[in-house]
Amino acid sequence: MSSYQAWRVHEKDGQYVGGVETLDTDDLPEGDVLIRVTHSSLNYKDALSATGNKGVTRSFPHTPGIDAAGEVVESATGTPAVGQQVIVTGYDLGMNTAGGFGEYIRVPARWVVAMPQGWNARRAMVYGTAGLTAGLSVAKLLKMGASPEQGPVAVSGASGAVGSVALEILSGLGFKVTAISGKADQADALTKLGAVELLGRDALDPEKKPLLKPRFANAVDTVGGSPLAELLKQVMPGGSVSCCGLVAGPQLETTVLPFILRGINLLGVDSVEIPLAEKESVWSRLAGEWACPVTEASARDIGMDELDDALQAFLKGQSAGSLVLVHGK
Ligand SMILES: NC(=O)c1ccc[n+]([C@@H]2O[C@H](COP(=O)([O-])OP(=O)(O)OC[C@H]3O[C@@H](n4cnc5c(N)ncnc54)[C@H](OP(=O)(O)O)[C@@H]3O)[C@@H](O)[C@H]2O)c1
Repeated sequence: MSSYQAWRVHEKDGQYVGGVETLDTDDLPEGDVLIRVTHSSLNYKDALSATGNKGVTRSFPHTPGIDAAGEVVESATGTPAVGQQVIVTGYDLGMNTAGGFGEYIRVPARWVVAMPQGWNARRAMVYGTAGLTAGLSVAKLLKMGASPEQGPVAVSGASGAVGSVALEILSGLGFKVTAISGKADQADALTKLGAVELLGRDALDPEKKPLLKPRFANAVDTVGGSPLAELLKQVMPGGSVSCCGLVAGPQLETTVLPFILRGINLLGVDSVEIPLAEKESVWSRLAGEWACPVTEASARDIGMDELDDALQAFLKGQSAGSLVLVHGK
């Protein structure tokens, strides 16, 4: 039994209020592995959980945090071993299982990824679920045979957490990346991440034509909705588009023409429920050949007392760059 600090959300008369509390590890849910969390990262889903979105978190009080990294302190299965540094993202963490905004989590062993060689908890949480999703999006394109020689690759929502890491990975792999972004003031940052062409969101404004001039060999889409439908019309024959997000809407209204006349592949990306081995493979690449120095250099550490403001910024669409929650800061 250990007491620990957590940023916990209570529901009171339909209002959701978060704050730092002292809790006890005995009150954590059952699970094989008790982890002392040193770092977490901030995601839009955490902001939804913290503000009572019942699609994310059904009951309160609740400790959000869909990402966590730290050290194993108890292990019923022996794997992972006590003392091992680990990463946990997705599955039910931070949704209806107490998450990384607390200094301890208890989870099933099958959720736990060993920290890649040479990495540490802070670096892992600079990437978090967003970086993992970016890596999975790129991995899907590569599995379909995408290569720099085929032509430019587009990244939509390029200034966002997923888009910016996807952009930096692809650029590092030698792809010529076109960044599609609604933020003109992010032009320098996108260029620094490796974009060779910058387009405004109007490049994906709705057009009546079912097909447009093909301009991208492949694409990573992080926004969904009608921009994704427009992107599909502009992909070269045989190209692939990976799709992970819905900030522009969950609806996808398209025709079959990009698929049956150009053989375009639409590749779904899920970072939450996929088998652990798929997550491990991407984490080890992020810690190796896909490392993103620009993203790492711009990440900012915050403490629990800054969580409220940071989560509000997410909800207002004002978040920028990777935020790492450092316990004990
Ligand atoms: N499938 C999965 O497992 C998984 C995992 C993580 C995240 N996601 C989803 O992936 C998406 C991106 O996540 P994120 O963490 O990168 O979010 P984020 O940091 O908020 O970035 C999203 C970006 O999309 C662009 N955008 C915002 N509203 C838009 C609109 N109405 N129309 C077009 N573009 C818009 C903005 O970029 P610009 O200003 O540069 O255009 C924004 O920065 C979200 O929908 C998230 O839920 C899915």
